[in-house]
Amino acid sequence: MRAAFRGSRLFLFALDRVTAEHAGRTPALQRLISGDTMKKDLLTLRDLTERNIEDILDRSAWLKQQNRNGLRHEPLAGKSLGMIFEKSSTRTRVSFEVGMFQLGGQALFLSPNDLQLGRGEPIADTARTLSRYLDAIMIRTFGQDTVAELARHASIPVINGLTDLHHPCQALADLLTIRERRASLAGLRLAYVGDGNNVANSLIEAGALTGMRVVVACPKGYEPDTTIVADARSDAKRTGGAVEITNDPFQAVAGADVVYTDVWASMGQEQEHAKRLKAFKGFQVDAKLMSAAGQDALVMHCLPAHRGEEISADVIDGRQSVVFDQAENRLHTQKAVLEMLMVRKG
Ligand code: CP
Ligand code: NVA
Repeated sequence: MRAAFRGSRLFLFALDRVTAEHAGRTPALQRLISGDTMKKDLLTLRDLTERNIEDILDRSAWLKQQNRNGLRHEPLAGKSLGMIFEKSSTRTRVSFEVGMFQLGGQALFLSPNDLQLGRGEPIADTARTLSRYLDAIMIRTFGQDTVAELARHASIPVINGLTDLHHPCQALADLLTIRERRASLAGLRLAYVGDGNNVANSLIEAGALTGMRVVVACPKGYEPDTTIVADARSDAKRTGGAVEITNDPFQAVAGADVVYTDVWASMGQEQEHAKRLKAFKGFQVDAKLMSAAGQDALVMHCLPAHRGEEISADVIDGRQSVVFDQAENRLHTQKAVLEMLMVRKG
């Protein structure tokens, strides 16, 4: 009698787990976790297809709504994400950690100062070891090659949380932010003014894959990566988008739906700060530049921002700015990415 009771309790417990795991499997998530197109890792935006991006944005919107309604959704119960940070972070660290918690799992902050990696243990051995404990790794580091090597040797998914070359998680949050304000992404004109850096590179890829016209204005010598631009142009041919590079910020923002900027000296370039301040003179996103854009153009910045350098305080704190929506959307889009890479197919 007691055995039968225990058996039925076990059955109910198992049923509960199965139901919890399958709860909230919207068509977008079903496609994301069952699609043969999905890669193991998210290293650049181009690891995603156009369909993947649309599904991630739909799923992010659903997760955001669940969150707003205070509904629990914990498909990653029992799963762990390791987070390796070789550069500072506020948004990426907190949003990944909170995102894992909200999905029922946990996140471990791994500082290179504490890991053996910081004392010279090979990245390949680190990848193989961590794969025995964790279910996924997020890494923020300098070289894109480090992230690629980690992914190559890890049997678990690896997510790029920013390198010198890419910032794909930021670009996904940016797409969601724009989509919330505009009916559709295709056909929009996005002007990026400033340094052709990691944020610019991932935005170019994101814009091209979603059919936007991305116009980048930067001083000579600070253009985005040429291979990334060439690949994005070939994507844009397929999607109806475009990628243009100019040295004239006013030409870039003319008629723009979105005006985006980022710091002039990124992490790792601190010693170039003074030189860059001179080189970027005339590229500040201020009220004068904004008057050349569409009246309702969105003002975007991935943050952290340097008011008075790449953007004026009145513009970043003004009515057109959506920078804190971008920051919030890191949470929702990354939760969709975590689900996509970590939820079991069955
Ligand atoms: N935008 C962004 O990645 O911010 P953090 O450097 O604070 O993570
Ligand atoms: N381009 C900046 C982005 C920070 C989120 C940097 O790499 O420092």
